[in-house]
Amino acid sequence: MNDEAEKLESPLPRHVAVIMDGNGRWATQHGLPRVAGHRAGVKSARLIVEACAEAQVETLTLFAFSSENWQRPVDEVNALMRLFIEVLQREVATLHKNDVRLRFIGARENLPTILQKRIEDAEHATAANQRMTLVLAVAFGGRWDIVQAARRIAAKVRAGEIDVQDIDDAVVARHLSLAGLGDPDLLIRTGGEKRVSNFLLWDLAYSEIQFSDTLWPDFDRSDLDDAFAFFGSRQRRFGRVGIPKEASVD
Ligand code: IPE
Ligand code: IPE
Ligand code: MG
Repeated sequence: MNDEAEKLESPLPRHVAVIMDGNGRWATQHGLPRVAGHRAGVKSARLIVEACAEAQVETLTLFAFSSENWQRPVDEVNALMRLFIEVLQREVATLHKNDVRLRFIGARENLPTILQKRIEDAEHATAANQRMTLVLAVAFGGRWDIVQAARRIAAKVRAGEIDVQDIDDAVVARHLSLAGLGDPDLLIRTGGEKRVSNFLLWDLAYSEIQFSDTLWPDFDRSDLDDAFAFFGSRQRRFGRVGIPKEASVD
Protein backbone atom coordinates (compact mmCIF):
# COMPACT_ATOMS: atom_id res chain seq x y z
CA MET A 1 0.00 0.00 0.00
CA ASN A 2 1.42 3.40 -0.84
CA ASP A 3 1.64 6.16 1.77
CA GLU A 4 -1.43 8.04 0.59
CA ALA A 5 -3.62 4.92 0.52
CA GLU A 6 -2.37 3.97 3.98
CA LYS A 7 -3.28 7.43 5.27
CA LEU A 8 -6.80 7.05 3.89
CA GLU A 9 -7.35 3.72 5.65
CA SER A 10 -5.36 4.06 8.87
CA PRO A 11 -7.74 3.35 11.79
CA LEU A 12 -5.54 4.79 14.56
CA PRO A 13 -4.30 8.38 14.73
CA ARG A 14 -0.52 8.74 14.62
CA HIS A 15 -0.61 12.31 15.87
CA VAL A 16 -3.21 13.38 18.42
CA ALA A 17 -3.64 17.02 19.50
CA VAL A 18 -5.72 18.09 22.49
CA ILE A 19 -7.18 21.43 23.57
CA MET A 20 -7.44 20.72 27.29
CA ASP A 21 -10.33 23.02 28.17
CA GLY A 22 -12.74 23.22 31.10
CA ASN A 23 -10.48 23.33 34.17
CA GLY A 24 -11.95 26.58 35.49
CA ARG A 25 -15.55 25.43 35.12
CA TRP A 26 -14.71 22.11 36.76
CA ALA A 27 -13.28 23.97 39.77
CA THR A 28 -16.30 26.27 40.00
CA GLN A 29 -18.64 23.27 39.89
CA HIS A 30 -16.73 21.78 42.81
CA GLY A 31 -16.71 25.04 44.78
CA LEU A 32 -12.94 25.37 44.35
CA PRO A 33 -10.66 28.15 43.09
CA ARG A 34 -9.80 27.95 39.35
CA VAL A 35 -6.23 26.89 40.05
CA ALA A 36 -7.55 23.70 41.71
CA GLY A 37 -9.05 22.90 38.32
CA HIS A 38 -5.67 23.32 36.65
CA ARG A 39 -4.12 21.00 39.24
CA ALA A 40 -6.83 18.42 38.61
CA GLY A 41 -6.18 18.83 34.88
CA VAL A 42 -2.58 17.66 35.33
CA LYS A 43 -3.93 14.24 36.38
CA SER A 44 -5.91 13.95 33.16
CA ALA A 45 -2.85 14.96 31.17
CA ARG A 46 -0.76 12.25 32.83
CA LEU A 47 -3.45 9.64 32.14
CA ILE A 48 -3.79 10.63 28.49
CA VAL A 49 -0.02 10.62 27.97
CA GLU A 50 0.12 7.06 29.32
CA ALA A 51 -2.89 5.90 27.32
CA CYS A 52 -1.58 7.40 24.07
CA ALA A 53 1.85 5.84 24.56
CA GLU A 54 0.14 2.47 25.13
CA ALA A 55 -1.96 2.97 22.00
CA GLN A 56 1.27 3.56 20.03
CA VAL A 57 0.39 7.13 19.18
CA GLU A 58 3.60 8.61 17.75
CA THR A 59 3.01 12.25 18.69
CA LEU A 60 0.74 13.79 21.31
CA THR A 61 0.44 17.59 21.29
CA LEU A 62 -1.20 19.20 24.34
CA PHE A 63 -2.36 22.83 24.40
CA ALA A 64 -1.51 24.01 27.91
CA PHE A 65 -1.39 27.83 27.64
CA SER A 66 -2.29 30.05 24.71
CA SER A 67 -0.87 33.41 23.55
CA GLU A 68 -4.18 34.91 24.67
CA ASN A 69 -4.12 33.28 28.13
CA TRP A 70 -1.62 36.00 29.21
CA GLN A 71 -4.70 38.22 29.43
CA ARG A 72 -6.06 36.27 32.40
CA PRO A 73 -5.79 37.69 35.94
CA VAL A 74 -2.14 37.85 37.00
CA ASP A 75 -2.74 35.50 39.94
CA GLU A 76 -4.04 32.77 37.64
CA VAL A 77 -1.18 33.26 35.17
CA ASN A 78 1.38 33.08 38.00
CA ALA A 79 -0.25 29.98 39.45
CA LEU A 80 -0.14 28.31 36.05
CA MET A 81 3.55 29.15 35.56
CA ARG A 82 4.33 27.72 39.01
CA LEU A 83 2.33 24.62 38.15
CA PHE A 84 4.26 24.11 34.88
CA ILE A 85 7.57 24.43 36.75
CA GLU A 86 6.42 21.98 39.44
CA VAL A 87 5.03 19.46 36.96
CA LEU A 88 8.23 19.44 34.92
CA GLN A 89 10.25 18.97 38.08
CA ARG A 90 8.09 16.00 39.07
CA GLU A 91 7.32 14.26 35.78
CA VAL A 92 10.34 14.50 33.48
CA ALA A 93 12.21 11.56 35.05
CA THR A 94 9.17 9.29 34.62
CA LEU A 95 8.63 10.42 31.04
CA HIS A 96 12.28 9.77 30.32
CA LYS A 97 12.06 6.28 31.89
CA ASN A 98 9.10 5.60 29.60
CA ASP A 99 11.14 6.61 26.53
CA VAL A 100 9.02 9.72 25.85
CA ARG A 101 10.64 12.66 24.06
CA LEU A 102 9.53 16.11 25.20
CA ARG A 103 9.29 19.10 22.91
CA PHE A 104 7.89 22.56 23.66
CA ILE A 105 6.31 24.91 21.18
CA GLY A 106 5.45 28.55 21.84
CA ALA A 107 6.98 31.94 22.59
CA ARG A 108 9.24 30.55 25.30
CA GLU A 109 11.13 33.81 25.65
CA ASN A 110 7.99 35.20 27.35
CA LEU A 111 8.05 32.53 30.05
CA PRO A 112 9.71 32.92 33.47
CA THR A 113 13.46 32.25 33.19
CA ILE A 114 13.33 29.27 35.51
CA LEU A 115 10.63 27.66 33.38
CA GLN A 116 12.68 28.29 30.23
CA LYS A 117 15.58 26.51 31.90
CA ARG A 118 13.41 23.53 32.93
CA ILE A 119 12.10 23.31 29.35
CA GLU A 120 15.60 23.30 27.87
CA ASP A 121 16.75 20.67 30.36
CA ALA A 122 13.71 18.46 29.70
CA GLU A 123 14.15 18.68 25.93
CA HIS A 124 17.84 17.95 26.22
CA ALA A 125 17.43 15.01 28.62
CA THR A 126 14.77 13.28 26.51
CA ALA A 127 16.00 14.19 23.01
CA ALA A 128 16.95 10.65 22.01
CA ASN A 129 13.77 8.95 23.27
CA GLN A 130 11.70 7.15 20.68
CA ARG A 131 8.49 5.68 22.02
CA MET A 132 6.38 8.83 21.69
CA THR A 133 6.95 12.55 21.24
CA LEU A 134 5.01 14.67 23.73
CA VAL A 135 4.67 18.24 22.50
CA LEU A 136 3.61 20.82 25.07
CA ALA A 137 2.20 24.03 23.62
CA VAL A 138 2.90 26.76 26.17
CA ALA A 139 2.52 30.46 25.31
CA PHE A 140 1.57 29.11 21.90
CA GLY A 141 -0.75 30.57 19.28
CA GLY A 142 -1.40 29.41 15.72
CA ARG A 143 -1.01 32.97 14.43
CA TRP A 144 2.20 33.45 16.39
CA ASP A 145 3.52 30.28 14.77
CA ILE A 146 2.74 31.46 11.24
CA VAL A 147 4.27 34.88 11.99
CA GLN A 148 7.51 33.39 13.35
CA ALA A 149 7.72 31.09 10.30
CA ALA A 150 7.16 34.04 7.94
CA ARG A 151 9.91 36.02 9.68
CA ARG A 152 12.42 33.21 9.41
CA ILE A 153 11.58 32.56 5.77
CA ALA A 154 11.83 36.28 4.96
CA ALA A 155 15.26 36.42 6.63
CA LYS A 156 16.41 33.48 4.46
CA VAL A 157 15.13 35.22 1.34
CA ARG A 158 17.02 38.35 2.30
CA ALA A 159 20.17 36.32 2.91
CA GLY A 160 19.78 34.75 -0.55
CA GLU A 161 19.20 31.24 0.87
CA ILE A 162 15.70 30.83 -0.60
CA ASP A 163 14.14 32.19 -3.80
CA VAL A 164 10.68 33.71 -3.39
CA GLN A 165 9.35 31.40 -6.13
CA ASP A 166 10.53 28.37 -4.14
CA ILE A 167 8.34 29.15 -1.12
CA ASP A 168 5.66 26.46 -1.09
CA ASP A 169 3.62 24.43 1.42
CA ALA A 170 6.62 22.29 2.31
CA VAL A 171 8.88 25.30 2.97
CA VAL A 172 6.28 26.93 5.23
CA ALA A 173 5.67 23.63 7.08
CA ARG A 174 9.41 23.23 7.69
CA HIS A 175 9.47 26.57 9.53
CA LEU A 176 6.44 25.94 11.72
CA SER A 177 6.79 24.69 15.28
CA LEU A 178 5.62 21.14 14.50
CA ALA A 179 8.16 20.75 11.67
CA GLY A 180 9.01 17.10 11.14
CA LEU A 181 6.21 15.76 13.33
CA GLY A 182 3.43 15.59 10.76
CA ASP A 183 -0.02 17.16 11.00
CA PRO A 184 -2.37 16.02 13.77
CA ASP A 185 -4.69 13.30 12.51
CA LEU A 186 -7.11 13.82 15.38
CA LEU A 187 -7.88 16.96 17.37
CA ILE A 188 -9.83 16.59 20.61
CA ARG A 189 -11.30 19.64 22.33
CA THR A 190 -12.84 19.08 25.74
CA GLY A 191 -15.06 21.48 27.69
CA GLY A 192 -17.86 21.81 25.15
CA GLU A 193 -16.69 24.81 23.09
CA LYS A 194 -16.64 24.25 19.35
CA ARG A 195 -13.75 26.46 18.31
CA VAL A 196 -10.04 26.24 17.67
CA SER A 197 -9.03 29.19 19.92
CA ASN A 198 -5.85 29.99 17.95
CA PHE A 199 -4.34 26.51 18.34
CA LEU A 200 -2.55 24.94 15.35
CA LEU A 201 -4.07 26.85 12.42
CA TRP A 202 -1.96 25.56 9.55
CA ASP A 203 -1.49 22.02 10.83
CA LEU A 204 -5.18 21.26 11.49
CA ALA A 205 -6.13 21.67 7.81
CA TYR A 206 -7.28 18.03 7.51
CA SER A 207 -7.50 16.85 11.12
CA GLU A 208 -10.60 15.01 12.26
CA ILE A 209 -12.12 17.01 15.12
CA GLN A 210 -13.80 15.50 18.17
CA PHE A 211 -15.58 17.99 20.42
CA SER A 212 -16.24 16.51 23.84
CA ASP A 213 -18.51 18.06 26.50
CA THR A 214 -16.40 16.48 29.25
CA LEU A 215 -14.47 19.05 31.28
CA TRP A 216 -10.74 18.33 31.05
CA PRO A 217 -10.25 17.21 34.70
CA ASP A 218 -12.97 14.57 34.13
CA PHE A 219 -11.53 13.36 30.80
CA ASP A 220 -10.54 9.72 31.13
CA ARG A 221 -9.65 6.57 29.22
CA SER A 222 -13.23 5.98 28.06
CA ASP A 223 -13.44 9.52 26.62
CA LEU A 224 -10.18 8.86 24.78
CA ASP A 225 -11.55 5.55 23.49
CA ASP A 226 -14.64 7.44 22.25
CA ALA A 227 -12.36 9.83 20.38
CA PHE A 228 -10.38 6.94 18.86
CA ALA A 229 -13.65 5.23 17.82
CA PHE A 230 -14.84 8.48 16.24
CA PHE A 231 -11.54 8.75 14.38
CA GLY A 232 -11.76 5.14 13.19
CA SER A 233 -15.22 5.75 11.77
CA ARG A 234 -14.15 8.72 9.61
CA GLN A 235 -13.33 8.41 5.95
CA ARG A 236 -10.47 10.81 5.33
CA ARG A 237 -10.70 12.15 1.83
CA PHE A 238 -8.19 15.03 1.81
CA GLY A 239 -10.28 16.75 -0.82
CA ARG A 240 -10.47 13.75 -3.10
CA VAL A 241 -13.38 11.50 -3.98
CA GLY A 242 -13.92 8.81 -1.34
CA ILE A 243 -13.26 5.16 -2.12
CA PRO A 244 -16.47 3.15 -1.55
CA LYS A 245 -15.73 0.39 1.01
CA GLU A 246 -16.64 -2.49 -1.34
CA ALA A 247 -14.40 -1.11 -4.12
CA SER A 248 -11.23 -0.85 -2.03
CA VAL A 249 -8.66 -3.62 -2.50
CA ASP A 250 -5.65 -4.38 -0.33
C1 IPE B 1 -8.05 25.28 30.14
O1 IPE B 1 -9.05 25.45 31.09
C2 IPE B 1 -6.67 25.55 30.70
C3 IPE B 1 -6.06 26.81 30.24
C4 IPE B 1 -6.54 27.58 29.32
C5 IPE B 1 -4.84 27.22 30.89
P1 IPE B 1 -9.72 26.86 31.35
O2 IPE B 1 -8.95 27.54 32.42
O3 IPE B 1 -9.89 27.62 30.09
O4 IPE B 1 -11.14 26.41 31.91
P2 IPE B 1 -12.54 27.09 31.59
O5 IPE B 1 -12.70 27.10 30.10
O6 IPE B 1 -12.50 28.45 32.18
O7 IPE B 1 -13.52 26.19 32.26
C1 IPE C 1 -7.86 27.26 24.84
O1 IPE C 1 -8.76 27.43 25.87
C2 IPE C 1 -6.45 27.27 25.35
C3 IPE C 1 -6.04 26.13 26.15
C4 IPE C 1 -6.77 25.07 26.45
C5 IPE C 1 -4.70 26.16 26.62
P1 IPE C 1 -9.33 28.87 26.26
O2 IPE C 1 -10.20 28.64 27.46
O3 IPE C 1 -8.24 29.83 26.41
O4 IPE C 1 -10.20 29.26 24.98
P2 IPE C 1 -11.41 30.25 24.83
O5 IPE C 1 -11.05 31.52 25.53
O6 IPE C 1 -12.61 29.59 25.46
O7 IPE C 1 -11.62 30.39 23.35
MG1 MG D 1 -11.35 27.69 28.70
